[in-house]
Amino acid sequence: MSKDVEKKIEALRENIRCHEYLYYVVDNPEISDAEFDKLMRELKDLEAEHPELITEDSPTQRVGGKPREGFVKVPHSSPMLSLDNTYNEEELRDWERRVHELSGRSDVDYVCELKLDGMSLALIYEQGKLVRGITRGDGSVGEDVTLNVRTVRSVPLSIPKEKLKKAGVPLDFEVRGELLMPLAAFKKMNEDREAKGLSVFANPRNATAGTVRQLESKVTAERRLDYFSYMLLEKGRTYFDRHSKTLDALDAAGFKVNPNRKLVHNIDESWEFIQQWEGKRDSLPYEIDGIVVKVDRTALQDELGFTGKAPRWAIAYKYAARAGITKLEDIRVQVGRTGKLTPVAMLAPVLIGGTTVRNATLHNMDEIERLGVKIGDWVQVERGGDVIPKVAKVIDDRDHPRPRDLRDFEMPEKCPVCGMKVVRTEGEVDYRCVNANCPAKLRETILHFASRGVMNIDGMGDALVNQLTERGLVKNVADIYKLTKADLLSLERMGEKSAQNILDEIEGSKKLPLERVIYGLGIRMVGERTAQFLAEHFGSMEALESAGVEELQNVNEVGPRIAESIVEFFGIAANRKLVERLREAGLTLTGLKKQRGTKLAGKMFVLTGTLAHLTRDEAKKMIEDAGGKVTASVSKKTDYVVAGADAGSKLDKAKELGVKVIGEKELEKLLSNVP
Ligand code: IVH
Repeated sequence: MSKDVEKKIEALRENIRCHEYLYYVVDNPEISDAEFDKLMRELKDLEAEHPELITEDSPTQRVGGKPREGFVKVPHSSPMLSLDNTYNEEELRDWERRVHELSGRSDVDYVCELKLDGMSLALIYEQGKLVRGITRGDGSVGEDVTLNVRTVRSVPLSIPKEKLKKAGVPLDFEVRGELLMPLAAFKKMNEDREAKGLSVFANPRNATAGTVRQLESKVTAERRLDYFSYMLLEKGRTYFDRHSKTLDALDAAGFKVNPNRKLVHNIDESWEFIQQWEGKRDSLPYEIDGIVVKVDRTALQDELGFTGKAPRWAIAYKYAARAGITKLEDIRVQVGRTGKLTPVAMLAPVLIGGTTVRNATLHNMDEIERLGVKIGDWVQVERGGDVIPKVAKVIDDRDHPRPRDLRDFEMPEKCPVCGMKVVRTEGEVDYRCVNANCPAKLRETILHFASRGVMNIDGMGDALVNQLTERGLVKNVADIYKLTKADLLSLERMGEKSAQNILDEIEGSKKLPLERVIYGLGIRMVGERTAQFLAEHFGSMEALESAGVEELQNVNEVGPRIAESIVEFFGIAANRKLVERLREAGLTLTGLKKQRGTKLAGKMFVLTGTLAHLTRDEAKKMIEDAGGKVTASVSKKTDYVVAGADAGSKLDKAKELGVKVIGEKELEKLLSNVP
């Protein structure tokens, strides 16, 4: 029996791996997402029934916790080198001349590749299984980021031995390549961060580095990194006799290899490739910053060797940053959907990389201070891929001397759209408008409120919300509940039937529970989970509205910043009025207080190390169900540190502060008395 299950599980895994490859590596899926999810669920269910059969390379095991004590340093099998740069045709030809001189030959083949703008990463495979992922670090020693790398779908966790054999790749090997964040994922990540009031990443490269060094692999998994391989080593040495063969073999072994590459026979052809891609780089779904030209033959590479930190056998041709110099004529303030005020530079129109740029972001007040920029300055503006143009620096040179009549920019005290007072929370970079009825925030607030995970009003998407807000039919979320059929029928492309469907959907949303309404209000830093905890704790909107900062902090996962944001929200009369109107409209504003135990009420716990019988999540849930709170770091406020095997710095901190340390047994005892 168990042998049959084992076979079934292995067959499912093989099947899933194959579809992962088709989807993430060759971008040519053969089954729908739903069918894929079904296979995955089937495997998860079987593994749940037979946990003894779970293996590390199972496709279900991509996301797996976090390294216990940060990232461990590991040496590279051979140095991870960087590349020398060239910036024009002459420098490129000089490089070829040196290759010819040093090798004594003039018939040298090269491979041209895109220079992907991410970070280099080494992957170590043993017996065809991924065992380690290491960042470049200083080139000799990198950081072990295996848990995060495993979440990257285009990185195979396991390759069948037959496949490796067919590709001519040994069982134990190392792959090197570039980890990057595609532009779409970058955009989405920054939007999400903005919505949560977090700072945004300046470019996809920084975002990649930040993501791979996340301690929580779940977060890395959500950010959808991608990986292109370009080197294959065995025992630290290049395996194949030609680089072009390496790329083909990696491809055959199931790695993602960038298809935009070319084997050429001289530097003229390389130059052609470079020029071609300079024009096409905007069409790529990720950023490149140039082209890499590599000598094809390994023997020749070895002969040419290295200078300092870069090989003589490869060169990067860097595209000029797409930048231009222009005059900053004014700075205006834009209000985003979360109410964040972003200073935007109004520029004298300037052509950069084929696009006329008229404005550029200045991010926030700190950035303006860092740049030292004033209204009237000459500035350098940079533009990359999909990324919004930004002001890179102030120019003051012979051609662009700094003008005398400069003006300082000041953040307005009132929201430029609704006129309400602007707020800057202590310790935060951004200024915000916290008026829920601010028209600038309206459109996005309505979309959020109506979305599937919130009030689930099907049909109330972009097109409808645009019309509703533009015509002034909906000025805040409560107005949704005042809409009549006649209102809807007055809109474009709206028939009798759709209008009725929408009214039914709106009516249906009134039955959704309290936590959805709390989430729907769009209070900064109150996401789905926090809304759930708030609903459980207070049991009604009324109780939540009148709660103070202290009381709010008794709620699970609510710290001082979230508590303040909630108090700030309900401190505004317009927001309270809005809630009142939702109440009148008949939404569900009460719920069941979850009867959490009281045994551990108000007690603060920190978990560290590995517990013998409980996972961290299980222990956390049990403590929370008993009324306790689990936080990430030890402070004087902590009541108990629960320490398991290999507990690290948190245990030291507890001892230092004199916080009580208990083991799993004692925790169970505390919990078992729970009513
Ligand atoms: S080859 C010894 N190929 O560029 C060979 N690097 O500026 C070293 N990069 O650290 C790397 N695309 O992170 C190579 N097709 C490509 C690349 C590439 C991007 C990065 C890599 C390297 C950096 C050097």
